[in-house]
Amino acid sequence: MLVLGIETSCDETGVALYEGERGLLAHALHSQVAQHAEYGGVVPELACRDHVRKAIPLLRDLFRQAGVGKEAVSGVAYTSGPGLVGALLVGAALGRSLAWTWGVPAVGVHHMEGHLLAPMLESEPPGFPFIALLVSGGHTLLVRVEEVGVYYVLGESLDDAAGEAYDKTAKLLGLAYPGGPALAKLAEYGEPTRFTFPRPMTDRPGLDFSFSGLKTFALNTWKAVEPTAQNKADIARAFEDAVIDTLIIKCRRALRETGIRNLVVAGGVGANRRLRKYLRELAEQEGGQVYYPRPDFCTDNGAMIAYVGYRRLIAGQYDSPVIQATPRWLLDSLQVPAAPAAGYRPVPGEGQGIER
Ligand code: KG4
Ligand code: ZN
Repeated sequence: MLVLGIETSCDETGVALYEGERGLLAHALHSQVAQHAEYGGVVPELACRDHVRKAIPLLRDLFRQAGVGKEAVSGVAYTSGPGLVGALLVGAALGRSLAWTWGVPAVGVHHMEGHLLAPMLESEPPGFPFIALLVSGGHTLLVRVEEVGVYYVLGESLDDAAGEAYDKTAKLLGLAYPGGPALAKLAEYGEPTRFTFPRPMTDRPGLDFSFSGLKTFALNTWKAVEPTAQNKADIARAFEDAVIDTLIIKCRRALRETGIRNLVVAGGVGANRRLRKYLRELAEQEGGQVYYPRPDFCTDNGAMIAYVGYRRLIAGQYDSPVIQATPRWLLDSLQVPAAPAAGYRPVPGEGQGIER
């Protein structure tokens, strides 16, 4: 079964073709980061318009790259939530319409399920169960992954996501959007013992996070010192140490509380060199291993959506032809991939070609 995956939940247009036997045939991505940079964050209306502009040319590239025609596709998967509603609707409308005209089933995919299962696209995927740490600009989550479709959210950020905290702190230190990587670079020159920032919510039980206080701490520290390059680097270092330490403390707690040894890390902040080093050490101490999707699949992409879509479509699951997005959608509410309930009567065209 060959599945086309479409991702348009935020500021990246991603498409991919995944097949059960051959795996990933091709993927293509267009990032809007440069367009949003001058506004210091994602502008939803610009994001939607750009998805409309880029999706079809990207699909043409994808099919050319994979060397297959549209007649080879036997199912379509698109991100239907969570995300920016307008952006999601572009992918949903496109995915549903293509499926309708090609006479194949389509399924809406949960964006976070895509991130959780992205490491399954690698040659040495993690075995189930595993703990997943998702750290990006939009989300910070610790999830217990039992199997495909069975997810328990153990903890999440109550305010800013880890990447958002990086970006906001970078902005107040005068670094360009998205400032996470620049702040991480600056932190390398910082003196680790100069300032100590708090490790939010680590002094009480539980696995939730709160990162918004760290940027205020950074701002107050920055206002209280001379604006020199070294002071800026020292603050960057103190901020990064606090974020990384907090993530490590919570990951250790999650592994110990569940007795699970393997850890999967995804999301843009997962690219952080120092975070990776400490996570590797943590996994070794706990007798497990840490798994990362390849860098292209750590961030938003179409391949993870094509993969999840494949797992669900192959199990006979598909959605009605109604074009709809689910901007708020709880990860815990997902179920093991399965066909629609007995007695469900598809409307004409729905689920066509399911056995192909
Ligand atoms: O997953 P992602 O590409 O996009 C979404 O948020 O969906 O994550 C981007 C986030 C940004 O906040 C960016 O500043 C952060 O990841 N980031 C980093 C690093 N590289 C990217 N944060 C810390 N250190 C890095 N090396
Ligand atoms: Zn994402």
